[in-house]
Amino acid sequence: MRLDRYMADMSIGTRKEIGTMIRKGRVTVNGTTAKDAAMQVSPDTPVFVDGTPIPYEEWTYLMMNKPCGVISATEDPRQKTVLDLLPKIRRKDLFPVGRLDIDTTGLLLITNDGALSHRLLSPKRHVDKTYEAVLEKPVGPDDPAAFAAGLLIPKDADGDGFTALPAKLVEGDSPKHVFVTIREGKYHQVKRMFAARGNKVLSLKRLTMGSLSLDPELHEGEYRRLTGAEIKALKEETL
Ligand code: URA
Repeated sequence: MRLDRYMADMSIGTRKEIGTMIRKGRVTVNGTTAKDAAMQVSPDTPVFVDGTPIPYEEWTYLMMNKPCGVISATEDPRQKTVLDLLPKIRRKDLFPVGRLDIDTTGLLLITNDGALSHRLLSPKRHVDKTYEAVLEKPVGPDDPAAFAAGLLIPKDADGDGFTALPAKLVEGDSPKHVFVTIREGKYHQVKRMFAARGNKVLSLKRLTMGSLSLDPELHEGEYRRLTGAEIKALKEETL
């Protein structure tokens, strides 16, 4: 890849800023001052800026606490996307793993690892996802058993009808505050599951995806890199 792409991927600056750094002799490649932003480097070429090594990170894994009002997409002409919330990260190949509705908050994995994303989202793998929901009405006494049995979701404006896989419904600190664990990810799934029980989701937050749990230190709109242990666990459980 080009040297300026390598540096931009590692969020060193804009292409223009990087060009200036190179012209000023601040960048060395293989121990020699770089002269040309277009020179070819590879992920293991030693690149230094002002004497500081800039290792190339091939795979990036970020955990975001998605806020309301942004969409889970890479770009959109009208609406703010989750990637717009990462101004310091300039690499262009990141995308969110799956979608949360615009009004859903919580755990969103953002990466450039297409293979891992594919495995996490594969309908065959049934990766558990736990959501915290606030409901319009108290959860009914038969609701946990109905969720566990596999709810019949009728056809509606959001899509065709289907039978949901068995899901776990647990009451929180009040009958309108619940935790739901589902093993699939159909469009508006949790909202449709409660609608099928005559209830309505007022707010929805994702807490987990497989072994990955939302870091309670992250405020809405904030993100952090996954730890090595978190990445390893996600890879191992989707082997
Ligand atoms: N289920 C929903 O209804 N919405 C989400 O954003 C995620 C799961």
